[in-house]
Amino acid sequence: MHMAPIVLQQPTALPQELPPRRSLHVAIISDGNGRWATSRGLPRSAGHRAGAQTARRIIAAAPGLGIHTLTLFALSSANWKRPPAEVAGILRLLHEYLLTETSNCMAEGVRLSIIGRRDRMPSTLRDAVADAEAATANGTRLHLRLAIDYSAREAIFHAACRFYKVTKLSSDTFGDVLSEVLRGGSTDVDLLIRTGGEQRLSDFLLWECAFAEFVFLTKRWPDFTAADLESAVQEYGHRERTRGALPDAIAG
Ligand code: IPE
Ligand code: MG
Repeated sequence: MHMAPIVLQQPTALPQELPPRRSLHVAIISDGNGRWATSRGLPRSAGHRAGAQTARRIIAAAPGLGIHTLTLFALSSANWKRPPAEVAGILRLLHEYLLTETSNCMAEGVRLSIIGRRDRMPSTLRDAVADAEAATANGTRLHLRLAIDYSAREAIFHAACRFYKVTKLSSDTFGDVLSEVLRGGSTDVDLLIRTGGEQRLSDFLLWECAFAEFVFLTKRWPDFTAADLESAVQEYGHRERTRGALPDAIAG
């Protein structure tokens, strides 16, 4: 019996929109919660709650976009300058998040780490952090790092204070010490996204962002979607990263 040959459809365009294949470290400064709430006549706490929902959606979408490490700026050390009730509310939300999401993280292969100071958080939260980290330690699909009471400058300063004990002095061994200080590691950031319209780093991952690509969005964090994350990853894929070398086209 004669079988008609199978004719494969030629793609009409190159699949340029696919995310890059290599695994990425994406860091996000999730800004704009307060303004999102205020513009709706809601208390700022409602913005933080909506922001936590966004974080859940973004964490779920990340592995499918080739992201192996996702670092979210949940609370900066500079945020202690805010009214104590707001900071306490954010810490309570984080505690709630750990309690509700740990089993989900375990099921989804998400390893959760906290970077930042732990000595100023309530001891109940400190315990919840340790429990969540221990319970999710075997996750390999995504390394989720939440920066809480985090200051990059302070972390680098503490690493520098410890560095004098290290015998083999190099940029790599300094990175190892910084990683120890942070507990959650210190790998280079590939893509840094900031929502909320500001275009600054605000003491976030200063060492790790040395060669990061930046994407700034005016959208406020509660409005940020998985599609926005995908667009940012695509934008990153179109950028040429030379790390100071010549672009391929010129280098030949
Ligand atoms: C970011 O949103 C969340 C945290 C800093 C915890 P903001 O609270 O900074 O929101 P805006 O910038 O005031 O809108
Ligand atoms: Mg802000």
